[in-house]
Amino acid sequence: MALRPIICIPDPLLRVHCEPVLKIDEEIRVLMDDMLETMYEAPGIGLAAIQIAIPKRVVVMDLAKADHPPEPRVFVNPEIIWSSPETRIYEEGCLSIPDYYEEVERPSRVCVRYLDREGLTQELEADGLLATCLQHEIDHLNGVLFIDHLSRLKRERVIKKYTKAAKLNEPIAPSGPRTRDRIR
Ligand code: NI
Repeated sequence: MALRPIICIPDPLLRVHCEPVLKIDEEIRVLMDDMLETMYEAPGIGLAAIQIAIPKRVVVMDLAKADHPPEPRVFVNPEIIWSSPETRIYEEGCLSIPDYYEEVERPSRVCVRYLDREGLTQELEADGLLATCLQHEIDHLNGVLFIDHLSRLKRERVIKKYTKAAKLNEPIAPSGPRTRDRIR
């Protein structure tokens, strides 16, 4: 396993539409393991392959609480096949937009179809944090970031701030409220 660098906005790669995985082979399994290691190290609770500059439809996640044993999950070619009409608001963050958190409204429940580590098709009905996290990560595969769900004013302010910091090669100062569980 190896740690891979996480790319941040305004990197244009974060806006690409990622390619489906045609075959789950050794290369994809190494990618999954590297992604999990990179996510745990960050630390985050979810990571899409494009965040380490690999434009493939692969997501890893672990929503286990800090004092519980790890529960690594992998989703290959995940797609939302159903979303609830009810929504919930959750404060999200993203490893590719470090130290920025904002409330996002999304469907509160989703059903997701995906391939597991062995290449078998699975369906998962999710609610709560898992539903929010799945939608956040599947957005990444389509070049969509959580800031795209905010008002244009908020989004443009964030992009401007990070673009300026990237040019100056400066770290971003933390802002906004902080809570224990955050989507990455
Ligand atoms: Ni993210």
